[in-house]
Amino acid sequence: MKGPLLNALIKISAEINSTMELDTLLPDIVKITGDYLKVRNASIMLIDWDTLTINCYTGCSPHHNSLSVKQGIIGDVAGTGTEYIVNKKFSSSSSKSFLALPLKAGSKILGVFNLTDKDEDYFDDDDVSIARYIASQCALAIERHNIYNKMRANENLQAIGLLKSSVAHDISNLLAIADVYLGLMEEEVDKSTTMYEYVKAVKSEMKRISILATDMLDLSKDKLIAHKTKFRISELVNELKLYSEAFSKNSNAKVEFNIKCDDEIVADKNRLFRVFFNLLNNAGDAAKENGRIIFSVKKTGKDISFIVADNGKGIRKEDIGRLFQPFFTSGKIKGTGLGLAVVKDIIEAHSGSIRVRSTLGSYTCFLIRIPQNG
Ligand SMILES: Nc1ncnc2c1ncn2[C@@H]1O[C@H](COP(=O)(O)OP(=O)(O)OP(=O)(O)O)[C@@H](O)[C@H]1O
Ligand SMILES: [Mg+2]
Repeated sequence: MKGPLLNALIKISAEINSTMELDTLLPDIVKITGDYLKVRNASIMLIDWDTLTINCYTGCSPHHNSLSVKQGIIGDVAGTGTEYIVNKKFSSSSSKSFLALPLKAGSKILGVFNLTDKDEDYFDDDDVSIARYIASQCALAIERHNIYNKMRANENLQAIGLLKSSVAHDISNLLAIADVYLGLMEEEVDKSTTMYEYVKAVKSEMKRISILATDMLDLSKDKLIAHKTKFRISELVNELKLYSEAFSKNSNAKVEFNIKCDDEIVADKNRLFRVFFNLLNNAGDAAKENGRIIFSVKKTGKDISFIVADNGKGIRKEDIGRLFQPFFTSGKIKGTGLGLAVVKDIIEAHSGSIRVRSTLGSYTCFLIRIPQNG
């Protein structure tokens, strides 16, 4: 018995030492563990915000690709950090043995390691100890990966920090002046000429540059403070509608608005505009021919929910966890990878939450909830 165990553990530690990439590491660990413990199904689910999502599995495809933390047994393991072991030795039920172990780094719970249906057998104490040990190694590898990514992001953010006091400010100020002159041109130019269209196109591009500069300023701050005021939701929506007209001309997609709530809200209007500006642009970039983007607003209890959904090219499962990291960009020629990082900071400054759902090739949806009263 010792030989195979030693082999499995040596393989796992060699894997952990050879790569920082969880996308290859975790499936390998799941496979080695599944083979060693002779279970039919093994999977790792990782926590992202308050959702547990399948990272990898062997055997049957799991019943749920994602669950809320606290939902069901696995969600409970993720929420409480308590392991769950079932051994129904003589039962004829389909899952006669089931082990769900929290992946813990210190007091932080990163995910759950699930092992189901041991071949013709059930988990003995040794199996459980070995599975616990492997789960602890996985958790260390995941934490190391997260720290490494944070360090890389911090290095990049420090570089942005250098821009904070000078360049980004200057860009914003100069753009504001140029915008005034463009406004004057817009009034002077005959509205039936193509020159008028050009002026509007320049204005829209300048808005993008100005937003990029302000995003950089926000990202360079240690903690973003939202400047909240009370306003009606339609004030924000009208600004977005105005922008989306110009945007639709340069994009494959049209934006549809589905506004089910026009209450007053206490929030930072300019920054929320930038949130949806970034989300609409991303959806536009992902659009296919004749794409649709739907921007919806509704009331959800004490929160206001904003949804930006598109039927574009979708996001790869392995990229979902990295979307909000500064400088993560994929599939774009001009992407800087700052948009969603700043979206996350702004939503956090509103004590709100943001979720992503996507199906590769066909659909992406960003759901944002913020408290209505600030
Ligand atoms: N609606 C979407 N559909 C498909 N992919 C998306 C969508 N939204 C975001 N993404 C992916 O997430 C990545 C990160 O988005 P983010 O807005 O942070 O950066 P970016 O758009 O690449 O650059 P920028 O800083 O100019 O916004 C994008 O490069 C894209 O691959
Ligand atoms: Mg973007």
